[in-house]
Amino acid sequence: MSDIVKIFDTTLRDGEQSPGASMNTAEKLRIATQLEKLGVDVIEAGFPAASEGDFEAVSQIAKKITNCEIAGLCRTSKNDIDRAWAAISHAAKPRIHTFIATSDIHMKYKLNMGREEVIRATIEAVTYSKNFTDSVEFSAEDGSRSDRDFLCQVFEAAISAGATTINLPDTVGYAIPHEFAELVKYVIKNTSNINKALLSVHCHNDLGLATANTLAAIAAGARQAEVTINGIGERAGNTSMEEVVMALKTRPNFFPMTTNIDSTKIFPISRLVSMITGIIVQPNKAIVGANAFAHEAGIHQDGVLKNPMTYEIMQPETIGLSSNKLILGKHSGRHALKSHLKEMGYDLSDEELNLIFSKFKELADKKKHVLDEDLEALVNEGILRTTDIFRLEYLHVSSGTTVRPIAGVTMKINGRPVDGTAYGNGPIDAAFNAIAELTRTKSDMLRFSVSALTGGTDAQGEVTVRLRENGLVALGRGVDADIITASAKAYINGLNRLEYLKEKPYLASEVL
Ligand code: KIV
Ligand code: ZN
Repeated sequence: MSDIVKIFDTTLRDGEQSPGASMNTAEKLRIATQLEKLGVDVIEAGFPAASEGDFEAVSQIAKKITNCEIAGLCRTSKNDIDRAWAAISHAAKPRIHTFIATSDIHMKYKLNMGREEVIRATIEAVTYSKNFTDSVEFSAEDGSRSDRDFLCQVFEAAISAGATTINLPDTVGYAIPHEFAELVKYVIKNTSNINKALLSVHCHNDLGLATANTLAAIAAGARQAEVTINGIGERAGNTSMEEVVMALKTRPNFFPMTTNIDSTKIFPISRLVSMITGIIVQPNKAIVGANAFAHEAGIHQDGVLKNPMTYEIMQPETIGLSSNKLILGKHSGRHALKSHLKEMGYDLSDEELNLIFSKFKELADKKKHVLDEDLEALVNEGILRTTDIFRLEYLHVSSGTTVRPIAGVTMKINGRPVDGTAYGNGPIDAAFNAIAELTRTKSDMLRFSVSALTGGTDAQGEVTVRLRENGLVALGRGVDADIITASAKAYINGLNRLEYLKEKPYLASEVL
């Protein structure tokens, strides 16, 4: 059995199914580029048959990424497989990932199919996929709740038809580690041709056990883990990449196997995904949470100062958390900015650098120390959002103890300038009213939260909003030294994501 565990990242597919986390093509390309640098073996870039937007993003990723396999998800229908292949065919290493449910409850109520029909659909889909590429993955959706012998029968049929990876998902996050490990062993023992395929697992976190189940499965013989950055994903999320990778690395006595991941890229990609999706990482999240390496109790601090190993089982540097951050300020030049951005993983063109440099200078005039978090926000808002439908050009608010709050806003909508004014209960409300009128949108604000992006009294404000319109939900995020502007940016970002979702109804209606 191989001592390498393949890391299959599905941040851009299952991760995008987190409520509100839809991403545009530029954002997905950015994440895919960083996943390649991180060293993941497979990037599941999307579900091409789901929408035009998904198709476009998957094909662009397939053209750009050369070191990872690029997987396109599809149901077992020929139409889905054709769409997936059309999107990934340019990839240096394409993979078709086809799936069908195998549990009685899914077959009866969702598919309205019997066991024989499911086996037939599996064989047809895998055989058809093999016309396009040798690398074909088959997933038995709701595998952990399927009849074990039927599951083995389906896997056997898929492998005979040519599947090179067999994936066992715990789709609803129901499994318990000991039970899941037993299931993996059962599949290995009772699928006669299992040695012709790699066994993969894909866990969800509904009981908070996704990482534990994945590790138990690896110990039992699985050699591919399907994961997402920060554990984002459908409902309670998927197995978190950083937890699995660092558990394998930190406990080699227990797991005599490795991954191809460069762990020093873990923290930067965690931040990138959080910033792009607007999903904030909880402070006590293992590995990448803000408190993961913070020692509060005096007795712990004392121990760590004497010997970090007293309370630290991993060194922060191993995940790319550096204690001596380079701080840039208003005297820093273009070259320092360029090389620092490069170290952070942003390889900007000259034109992009010029744009970010002028925004950096503006910020450095307001804020003494410009930190990595500030730079990430500049790049995110300055470059990755350039294809947005709605853009903020200018904002002016007037408010105070004796003034009725009013906001004047200029925006570009599909490149066309528009402006307007509106009153509100406060300056943010006034700005939001003006934006809603200009964009002719009628979303409800489900959540509005403000925090500081970094420490210090001159920190930039970070605003996140959660919007709902006609059953679609989107998150928005905005960063600015002025919190009213940050709020307007977050609102507009949320509206852009809603527009994108209108093209991608499957993210709202749970096709999967
Ligand atoms: O959770 C699941 O079963 C899935 C499959 C499509 C692999 O995401
Ligand atoms: Zn899933």
